Amino acid sequence: MSPAPTAAAPGEPGDPLPSARPAASPLVHTVTLVEQQAKACAELGSPLYAALLDQVALDLAAGGPCAAALAGHEADPAGAAVALRLLGGVHALVLTGRVPELALHYPSAGGRFDPARPAAAWPAFRAAVADNLPWVRDWLTRPPQTNEVGRANLLVAGLLHVLAGRARPVRLFELGSSAGLNLLADHFRCEAPGFAYGPAGSPVVLTDAWQGTPPTAAPPLEFAERRGCDPAPIDPRSAEGALALRAYLWPDQPARAARLEGALRLAARIPAPVEAEGAADFLRGVRVADGALTVVWHSVMRQYVPAAEWAAVEAELERLAEQSTAAAPFAHLAFEPRRDGGMVRFVLTVRAGREPERVLAEAAPHGLPARLLPAAGEPGR
Ligand SMILES: C[S@@+](CC[C@H](N)C(=O)[O-])C[C@H]1O[C@@H](n2cnc3c(N)ncnc32)[C@H](O)[C@@H]1O
Repeated sequence: MSPAPTAAAPGEPGDPLPSARPAASPLVHTVTLVEQQAKACAELGSPLYAALLDQVALDLAAGGPCAAALAGHEADPAGAAVALRLLGGVHALVLTGRVPELALHYPSAGGRFDPARPAAAWPAFRAAVADNLPWVRDWLTRPPQTNEVGRANLLVAGLLHVLAGRARPVRLFELGSSAGLNLLADHFRCEAPGFAYGPAGSPVVLTDAWQGTPPTAAPPLEFAERRGCDPAPIDPRSAEGALALRAYLWPDQPARAARLEGALRLAARIPAPVEAEGAADFLRGVRVADGALTVVWHSVMRQYVPAAEWAAVEAELERLAEQSTAAAPFAHLAFEPRRDGGMVRFVLTVRAGREPERVLAEAAPHGLPARLLPAAGEPGR
């Protein structure tokens, strides 16, 4: 998969920016959203979900069990991602051993997806929904929430850029941390041809992380402090939290699942507190400190923050940049989607102190693979 821009269709929560508008009839609206999600799943490498959602759209139109599951959600906006809520609830049934027939088709549960018969799972999926309506309808009330460990690839690269080969303690503050897994990025290993960075033996290995010239490695990262915020934090140490993180991954994407499992092992032994508050309130309590690089980073969360709150976030980032000195430096790193014509690009931006922001790299939505971008005036890499 290349870090090429993606079409502006709804993908995972926080991935390509939702673009659909409600159609005239609520049912047509839901069917359209499910069909769009099917296309996004095909583009983003989940043929199992693409095939299942095509069938869900037909089942909705025919008034089948999926229509019963989604009853009352017909007017939900595109951003509510009802299709992903349904898929997450059914995946949770699979992962908790409740629907063994369907598990036979889910690689995440040891099953097999047959590309020659992409919709082979449909009869078992339909039965799982029909037999577990209260469970599925409960999952439809929850916003899907993932925590993509692969995105640390970009955030670490931004940090290496700012550190520029110096060993320096980092005080890390993350906005929109979800389960806080990327607060553990100093324990992840990133690998690409000619590049390896992070502890050997880490349970999280981001392989084939870079295309073209990789970032310049530096001394090992030293996080003197790590803290995040999220209005709805997930506890990765609880059975319920871990199930939610696993269930919202797509079952035929084993690399993402392996990264998550590795990060859950790290989270079990390394504290990475995530405060239950929004980004602006959290940032009001952050100061620069002598002898350490203070970093605020975030990935794929900006679109969820109301405009007024984001304005307050920008004001706080500006305050920290103003307070930045050689002894108490500050940097802001972001891996966020940007509209570029009709497409959405996921780019890493870096701002060190009061310097102008620089777009340093771009990547696929989950952070792998990534590609460094040339600075203005530099030849392409
Ligand atoms: C798509 S998830 C991304 C999570 C994580 N940053 C990652 O890249 O995997 C977006 C996160 O933003 C959080 N969020 C929503 N509104 C927020 C706000 N006002 N301040 C901080 N985080 C917020 C959501 O709860 C969710 O966990």
